[in-house]
Amino acid sequence: MATVDVPLKRLKFGQTARKDGWWVMPLTTFVVFSAFIVYVTWSLLQGDNYWYGNYLSPLYEPEIFGSSPHAWFGPWHWWWFPFVKYSPAMLILIFPLAFRMSCYYYRGAYYKAFWADPVACAVGEPRDEYRGEHKWPLLIHNLHRYALYFALIFNVFLFIGAVKGFIFNDPSTGRAQFGIGIGSLIMLINAILLAGYSFGCHSLRHLVGGVVDQFSKAPARKKAWDCVTCFNRHHPKWAWFSLFSVALTDVYIRLCAMGVITDLRII
Ligand code: FES
Repeated sequence: MATVDVPLKRLKFGQTARKDGWWVMPLTTFVVFSAFIVYVTWSLLQGDNYWYGNYLSPLYEPEIFGSSPHAWFGPWHWWWFPFVKYSPAMLILIFPLAFRMSCYYYRGAYYKAFWADPVACAVGEPRDEYRGEHKWPLLIHNLHRYALYFALIFNVFLFIGAVKGFIFNDPSTGRAQFGIGIGSLIMLINAILLAGYSFGCHSLRHLVGGVVDQFSKAPARKKAWDCVTCFNRHHPKWAWFSLFSVALTDVYIRLCAMGVITDLRII
């Protein structure tokens, strides 16, 4: 039988025989994710122009302490932490960010894009050793399932916020009335996209359908598992669309609050 020698030589960083555009996806992830992180950080530190009438930016939902009418417990007093420039987003953003940063899909995407570990299949890596998730700091990703519990609670707040986006104050009577503005629709779409992202989470799939020996004996869990699996099938798409929608909803409300654009009322 004929034999072929295949030398097991370590490829240099970036070296590959691949002719396809293997670098497009990591590069796109790098650019989009970096832009998102820069924008969210800027928006978080702003602490201003994050609400407009009945609209509240998803980056600030829920507002626990703050100066807007959406705040649960009224204003933040500067003397509580005198050396910190307060922004209501500071108290809550860690939860959705932890959920997104530890997402199984995003990990795969940003390990390639930011750490080149691995860069792509059959492409030379910059390191000799495997830097797995069984050591710190990446071990922290195991908290993903707990981040999920918070994310599901935040989904409820976002839907409540979206419903509030349809309740306007009538300027002549001062009474609340149903209405639809472009902002109402944007907030609703954003809440749906974020829920679709959470509902397709791998940890949620395990939570509802894991540790079951026979699905035939647990029909309710089988149904729930099917439902999560359905969202899970397109998890990367939900991840990216919801990422864009969060940023765009914040931009829209911010521009309305700054008076740069006017919210168009359909009803
Ligand atoms: S795996 Fe992506 S959100 Fe849980």
